[in-house]
Amino acid sequence: MTVEDIKKPVKEEMAMFEKKFKLAMKSDVALLDKITHYIIKRKGKQLRPLFVFLSAKMFGEVTDGTYTAASLIELLHTATLVHDDVVDDAFERRGFLSINALWKNKIAVLVGDFLLSQGLLLTTSENRIDLLHLVSKAVKAMSEGELLQMEKSRKMDITEDVYYRIIEQKTASLVAACCGTGACSVTNDKKIIATMEQVGIFVGMAFQIKDDIFDYGFSNDIGKPTGIDIKERKLTLPLIHVLQKVSKEKRRLIVNTIKKDKQDPAKVKKIISMVIENGGIDYAERKMNEYKDLAIKELEKLPPSSAKEAFIGLIHYSINRKK
Ligand code: IPE
Ligand code: IPE
Ligand code: MG
Ligand code: MG
Repeated sequence: MTVEDIKKPVKEEMAMFEKKFKLAMKSDVALLDKITHYIIKRKGKQLRPLFVFLSAKMFGEVTDGTYTAASLIELLHTATLVHDDVVDDAFERRGFLSINALWKNKIAVLVGDFLLSQGLLLTTSENRIDLLHLVSKAVKAMSEGELLQMEKSRKMDITEDVYYRIIEQKTASLVAACCGTGACSVTNDKKIIATMEQVGIFVGMAFQIKDDIFDYGFSNDIGKPTGIDIKERKLTLPLIHVLQKVSKEKRRLIVNTIKKDKQDPAKVKKIISMVIENGGIDYAERKMNEYKDLAIKELEKLPPSSAKEAFIGLIHYSINRKK
C-alpha cells in the first residue's frame, strides 16, 4: 500500500485538518508568529493525525471532535519535538535547523509551552473533557518517559525491560492517544476505545524502535541528526542487546568509551560497527516486527472496513518508512 492509498479514506479530512491546524498556531506576538510559520512550512509526516482520522473512520463518520483530537495531538507532538531538541541538543529537525538552533533554548522552551497550551485550550473550548483525558494521560507519560531515559543515561544501567517502558511512555502513549481519541470521537463504546489504545501502544513501540534504528544512520536524509543517541549516552535496543551478549570485558570497553569518548566521531563509529557485527540491528528489527504483529493481531478483534485496511497499511508504513 502506498501513502496515497493509506490516506485515501480520509483525504478530505486531512486537507481540512491542515487549515485548522494552521489557525491553531496563530499568535499576535510577532516573534511567536514567525516561529510558528517556520514550523508549519516544515511540517513533518503528520502520521498522528492520520492515525486519529483512520481510527475514527473505522467506527463512523468523522466529527468535530475528531478534528479537535487531531489538532490537539499534532500541536502536542510538535511541542514535544521542540522541547526534545533542547533536551537532546539537536540542531536539525525535519531537514532544517531546529528551533533551538535558530532561536536558542530559552525561546524553544516557551514556544513548546505555547503549542501545548494552545492544544489544551482547543479541547476545553469544545468541551471535550473525554478527549482531553485520553491525551493528558499521554502527556504525563511522555514527560515521565523522557525523565526515566535521562536517569538511565546518567547511570548507563538500562535493561531491555526498562527500554520498553521508556519507549512506551515517551512515544507509544501518544500513538495510543491518537487511536483512542479517534475512536472516542465517534463512539462511546469503552471496549472499542480501549482496544484502539492498545493497538496504538503496539504500533508506537514499533515506531520508536524504527526511530532508534534510524539513529544508526543507514538511511540518508532522515531530516534529523544520526549518531546522536550514543553521543547523548542514550542506550537504545540495538546496543542494549549487544551489551547483554558480549563478554564482560567488551561490555566495559563499550560503556567506558561512551562515557569518555562519546564526542569522538571515530570512537562512536567503532561502537556502531560493533553493534552491527553483533546482531544488534537485526535483533531490534525482529522486536519491531513482533510489535507490528501484535498491533495487527489486536486489530483482528474489530470489524472489517476499508478504513481498517488503510490503518493496517499505516502500521506497515510505520516500520518500513524511509524517514
Ligand atoms: C518523531 O516523530 C519523534 C518520535 C517519536 C520518534 P515523527 O517521526 O512522527 O516526526 P515528524 O512529525 O514526522 O517530524
Ligand atoms: C522521541 O525520542 C522523542 C519524543 C517523544 C518527543 P527521540 O529523541 O529519539 O526522537 P527524535 O529522534 O529526536 O525525533
Ligand atoms: Mg531527540
Ligand atoms: Mg531518535
